[in-house]
Amino acid sequence: MKSAKIVGLGKYLPPKILTNLDLEKRVDTTDEWITTRTGIKSRHIVENNTPVSVLAKEASLIALKRAGIKPKDLDLIIVATITPDTQFPSTACYLQDYLKAKKACCFDVSAACAGFVYALTCAWQFLKTGFYKNALIVGGEVLTSITDWEDRSTCVLFGDGAGAAVLVPTGKDGILSSYLGADGSEADLLILPGGGSRNPVSARVVEERLNYIKMRGNELFRIAVRIMVEAAKKSLRMAKLTSKSVKLLIPHQANIRIINAVAKRLELEGKTYINIDRYGNMSSASSAIALCEAWEEKKIKKDDIIVLDAFGGGLVWGSCVIKWI
Ligand code: UT7
Repeated sequence: MKSAKIVGLGKYLPPKILTNLDLEKRVDTTDEWITTRTGIKSRHIVENNTPVSVLAKEASLIALKRAGIKPKDLDLIIVATITPDTQFPSTACYLQDYLKAKKACCFDVSAACAGFVYALTCAWQFLKTGFYKNALIVGGEVLTSITDWEDRSTCVLFGDGAGAAVLVPTGKDGILSSYLGADGSEADLLILPGGGSRNPVSARVVEERLNYIKMRGNELFRIAVRIMVEAAKKSLRMAKLTSKSVKLLIPHQANIRIINAVAKRLELEGKTYINIDRYGNMSSASSAIALCEAWEEKKIKKDDIIVLDAFGGGLVWGSCVIKWI
């Protein structure tokens, strides 16, 4: 076997919708500012502290059904998330238990908004070497659990959700290339400072609101555009293709202005999937849900070349080129 292909996709969005008008009542913001600066109109959010594993389960059941693979036959489960149910066990372990996928080995990937592309690349490697016969990967987040509802510069951006993909080995095509990168020297640009071993949970951490996402949006913006363009070009080069062959670009959904700038520089305007208006930024879940939704909307057909392209806190980034089979 030389590669791996996706044989099932699923997504789950919690039913409750938070609109910009709802946010106007909570913080000093306007629908107009959020819409023009970010492209977001609404986002889905969990209620009653629903953990990310529950969202992951719903998305996974759909993906497994579409793939025709039974949970008991799964070899590998990878969950990409920065909002795990608990620091440990991994969310993948909780998911395994829900699914009764007793044979599967399980781990989480922490690569923020590039998490789904990182997880996809890991699964691809396990499958192309013949180490495993199938894999379930999930990008899932409950970002509202680490959102500071007193910080208007971040609380308007994020949403909750999960997307899942089932992969099997294939002799040709499927995933053609992957380019992953990171730059830990810029960690402070987008960070959850509290709750880990650097700043364990304490009264001080809570008082200083370090248990919430901190972001230097302006600086990130410029880097995001440059790196996402570079990453997509690199993965296309690795696949011996150019953007002329691309049917659909599926970029991480952080900001409509980033998406449009990346699409323009790659000459892929009009061939770019956008759903940020309905869901906001869902970190690792954004790419997973966008891929699933594009497929459900029949925007992906056999033999199409599609490019996933993501960037996030770490910094981390990744791009995968897939020939759909
Ligand atoms: O997902 C991983 C990667 N994430 C990203 O790449 C995010 C990249 N960054 C962004 O998307 C944008 O930088 C943001 C959407 C976060 C912010 O947009 P911006 O155009 O860069 O705004 P800004 O931070 O420069 O703020 C402009 C103004 C400020 O007011 P002053 O100082 O000019 O008076 C802010 O205080 O907008 C103000 N502002 C708001 N006003 C109304 C910030 N947030 C809000 C708000 N409502 N929610």
